[in-house]
Amino acid sequence: MSHQPSAKYRADYTSPDFTITHIDLDFILDDTQTVVTAVSRVIKQNQDATTLVLDGEDLKLVSLQIDGSEWGDYSTTENSLTINNVPESFTLTVKTEINPAGNTKLEGLYKSGDAFCTQCEAEGFRRITFYLDRPDVLAKFTTRVEADKGAFPYLLSNGNRVESGDLDSGRHWVKWEDPHAKPSYLFALVAGDFDVLRDNFVTVSGRNVELEIFVDKGNLDRAPHAMTSLKNAMKWDEERFGLEYDLDIYMIVAVDFFNMGAMENKGLNVFNSKFVLANDKTATDNDYLGIESVIGHEYFHNWTGNRVTCRDWFQLSLKEGLTVFRDQEFSSDLGSRAVNRINNVRIIRGPQFAEDESPMAHPIRPEKVIEMNNFYTLTVYEKGSEVIRMMHTLLGEENFQAGMRLYFERHDGTAATCDDFVLAMEDASGIDLSLFRRWYSQSGTPVVSVKAEYNSEEKTFALTLRQDTPATSDQKEKQPLHIPVDVELYDNTGKVIELQCNGKVISNVLSLKETEQTFVFENVATKPYLSLLREFSAPVKLHYDASDEELQFLMVHARNEFARWDAGQMLLAKHIKANVLKVQSGEALNIPESLIDAFRGVLLDKEIDPALVAEVLTLPSENEIGGWFEVVDVDAINSVRSAIKQRFAQEMKDEFSALYQALKQAEYSIEHSSIGKRTLRNLCLNYLAGTEQGNELVEAQYTHADNMTDTVAAMTAANTSELNCREALMKDFSGKWEKDGLVMDKWFILQGTNPAANALENIRVQMSHPAFDIKNPNRTRSLVGSFCNNNPVHFHAKDGSGYKFLAEVLTELNTSNPQVASRLIDPLLKFRRFDVARQGMMRAELEKLSVLDNLAKDLFEKIDKALNA
Ligand code: TRP
Ligand code: ZN
Repeated sequence: MSHQPSAKYRADYTSPDFTITHIDLDFILDDTQTVVTAVSRVIKQNQDATTLVLDGEDLKLVSLQIDGSEWGDYSTTENSLTINNVPESFTLTVKTEINPAGNTKLEGLYKSGDAFCTQCEAEGFRRITFYLDRPDVLAKFTTRVEADKGAFPYLLSNGNRVESGDLDSGRHWVKWEDPHAKPSYLFALVAGDFDVLRDNFVTVSGRNVELEIFVDKGNLDRAPHAMTSLKNAMKWDEERFGLEYDLDIYMIVAVDFFNMGAMENKGLNVFNSKFVLANDKTATDNDYLGIESVIGHEYFHNWTGNRVTCRDWFQLSLKEGLTVFRDQEFSSDLGSRAVNRINNVRIIRGPQFAEDESPMAHPIRPEKVIEMNNFYTLTVYEKGSEVIRMMHTLLGEENFQAGMRLYFERHDGTAATCDDFVLAMEDASGIDLSLFRRWYSQSGTPVVSVKAEYNSEEKTFALTLRQDTPATSDQKEKQPLHIPVDVELYDNTGKVIELQCNGKVISNVLSLKETEQTFVFENVATKPYLSLLREFSAPVKLHYDASDEELQFLMVHARNEFARWDAGQMLLAKHIKANVLKVQSGEALNIPESLIDAFRGVLLDKEIDPALVAEVLTLPSENEIGGWFEVVDVDAINSVRSAIKQRFAQEMKDEFSALYQALKQAEYSIEHSSIGKRTLRNLCLNYLAGTEQGNELVEAQYTHADNMTDTVAAMTAANTSELNCREALMKDFSGKWEKDGLVMDKWFILQGTNPAANALENIRVQMSHPAFDIKNPNRTRSLVGSFCNNNPVHFHAKDGSGYKFLAEVLTELNTSNPQVASRLIDPLLKFRRFDVARQGMMRAELEKLSVLDNLAKDLFEKIDKALNA
């Protein structure tokens, strides 16, 4: 690094000196020399301003004009263009040249395979032309695109197609006009040759919307599920939120090279093909569900993100937390609410809590940013959604929807802040959220400790809740938060005990606002069973010393499915923790019969939804377990988790076998009930893989599978249990799918998570597999990302080979694609959580990276925080 990249602070926000109300863009597309002409209407906002400073990066400036005349009074730096002595308002014409084929960062305009596409969020538009590339500058865009007609029959951009024509020498052009003013990050352009799936949607007010999904030629049979999901999303947003689509056309393009999941560009979403393409032969049930949720997410951004956008990037959670909340509700209303909640909670308790404990800890509304791309995090997205969900819990659906309506009334067509959102919720509901706002400024995971006392004479039950948030690397001092704690009491027959306080029946949601508070419930006839933090009503760690007996009771009697699952998880956590300590002190494991019986009971209960049974029987991941300890002992955790799994398999093999046979389905369908049965059946297979019959069963399932879910489940079971058939199945699969990168990702993930001793050696070999390409983020995440994140024993190998491997990959990606590098580095940043020897080796790799020539600011920001925390 020649000079240290500089940080921006939330507190330093100032409104722009100039704004741009209209921009007409013209693209003459060419692989290496695309010419972009931008004609902008610029208006001074601050009377004292005399210079206009525009953002720009990797651009070749060809010419600059003001009101039609060449303008020489300007200067440039590596990432800006300063134009001096400009008038009050004027037309600015900037001509630049860019190189899409050379753009491996996948930000700005780039080639994905044979197609041109763009990615402008967060700050990619400045790689297309010099501009006020900030979300509080909203302009009306027109876009003219010109390219070779044979190679690029489709020329797409935001809004409506208004004009088109043919040119000499086989070229053509199309002009688009977007009637909605938008910030530059929502701009999109796509040019290529595609197959198109067309449909339409009639909105609640009777307007017809054309729907188009563009996929690579030959992939049309993989687009219908995305289309169904889109129509479901449009309908759901009308019904649940009263929100209608606002253009006559909605386009989605699937591309293979994409840094993230998908992008909500106005009227023209660009998607990672992983979240569009699916059929029974190529996609698993999880792929189908992922598509539904991401299609929903991007669609929902049309209101929460596009119609109301963010004033500045520190407000990112305004659109992302809210839109994640909306997509979670969409999936929950269409499928199983309990299973959706469980999976979201797993993300918070696992990787999000880990992020809070890492050098990258930040509030959902960060205070300080060097590279914005580093803040598209689990905290901003997933914890951000939990914060919205807490408001929903405190206000109730009706008040919450009133808050949404007020928010749109006040802010439609503008760039808003997180405070604006909370104020709308507060004003519409009359509920005081003043203390609640701290969730936006305080980072870290609060710990809620619980003491419960029953008084048999007074017939009262006293619940004392205490909150403490440990210091995080970004913020030492912590204050009490407003934490909604949803509780329920049961008598010993499982009957619900009404909550009475001071002679009144009160809500199940207690508001913990002070460091410590005691809630006394009256008329409690017998010592109750306590179900706490129901639905995970707040993103906190719960410290409550429940007995095995209490937890086993809740696993059976808690009224709600989530609470039953959660009791099972707490029971497992108790025994896993205790056994890790035993391994560390050289004692024998102790897995009591009663633990097995509790889970056997769930397995045998015919009343429980199979999807939920599968969740209950799924052990917490090694990463989640690691989070429970001060120092993560990867080997001890791995051996305890494997031992419990093995014990469950042996003790319950008859039950697993019987269910495995009984749950066989004649036909594949993605109905939620079919998915649930398949999930449970494949969970049974995964346990049975560790028994005598494992190899035979797994091989048979692979051979007879008529869908990708069952195929991958067989391969996963062979992989985790290191079965003899593993090699043969892997070989057969790559033989079949070698030409299909998306399908091969499943195979690369199995290589990455291979528990065999030679896993890393083999991964290095697979990096020259014909289907692998380090320039493709999906491939890199599948092979390298899965190794670093989900193969802890080998990533943390005692000889440091895992760390060294990651550093090598990062060194290459630092230049080709820093955004991907910066996501991949996360496991290395957490070195302080490991033993001294591992810490030293991890730190050494970070130090090597820190002195790279041209260290990208993405990596700089994270490495600097990690080393200097
Ligand atoms: N706004 C996008 C979403 O939530 C996120 C996104 C897509 C993104 N591509 C990106 C963010 C590239 C930064 C860089 O779905
Ligand atoms: Zn989003």
